[in-house]
Amino acid sequence: MTEEDFYADRGRLAIYLEIEWSDYLYGRSSKISSPPNPSTIIVPPYFHIELSKYITRWGNGSRSYLEVGGGTGRLVYEVAQSLGSLENFCFVEPSQNFFSWAKRILTCNENLPAFPRVDSNADAQPVQRPPVVSKLRDSMLMLNQTLEELDPNLGTYDLVVSCNVLDRHPDPREFANILGRYVSPGGLFVLATPFDFHDEITPSEKQFCDLKDLLTAESWAILEEMELPYSWRKWSRPRTWVGFSCQVLAARRLDNNII
Ligand SMILES: C[S@@+](CC[C@H](N)C(=O)[O-])C[C@H]1O[C@@H](n2cnc3c(N)ncnc32)[C@H](O)[C@@H]1O
Repeated sequence: MTEEDFYADRGRLAIYLEIEWSDYLYGRSSKISSPPNPSTIIVPPYFHIELSKYITRWGNGSRSYLEVGGGTGRLVYEVAQSLGSLENFCFVEPSQNFFSWAKRILTCNENLPAFPRVDSNADAQPVQRPPVVSKLRDSMLMLNQTLEELDPNLGTYDLVVSCNVLDRHPDPREFANILGRYVSPGGLFVLATPFDFHDEITPSEKQFCDLKDLLTAESWAILEEMELPYSWRKWSRPRTWVGFSCQVLAARRLDNNII
């Protein structure tokens, strides 16, 4: 776990539970099939569901999956169901707040407790809980750690994913360098970010604006580059939507070189 958990407060948990799990927690009133916009009232888990479809296509045949900074777990939940070849999962999330929700949603059969809503000071009872996916419940390695705290002998994975973490990191290039070492030769590396850097987290000289700048042509072949909308509502200002276009990059590792 990080020394200072940026995501420890109730408001951030409310925001992420909504953008990742609103279709279950709030019920199917959110329109999950359309890109998010303020008229849908509740933010749908559009980003994670859409991205999982692309990852499933790019990662066809992959057997192992590592996600770092996985939040409350929606992306791995979707990919585990749609990419049938996957049998070995590792989920890394340093925030104790997010990790404990990911753990109870992904690996426990029990009913979920009341959850914080973006639009209320009172917690709400979930309308539904997501059905547990047995291969995650039974075999996923869940680590409440930062990327930097991982055991370097963790091994390599066919599919390595990190979404919306780089712009919350003090040294995004170093983060990508370390994470890239966990991609098996021939494996797939998927990164996404809205480049919403904060100067107090990432010094301006460490900020950048194109994911392709992180990967060298000697070690990586770019498979696809695209944009996906990513939105959330402000805690206690639920009529204020914050919207981004996330750059998403999928690259194949060419060799054993370290990027
Ligand atoms: C903006 S949230 C994104 C959550 C989720 N991936 C998503 O796309 O909705 C950033 C996440 O990165 C995690 N994070 C921050 N620094 C990290 C690090 N050094 N190693 C691993 N995860 C980190 C945070 O705890 C948080 O869950």
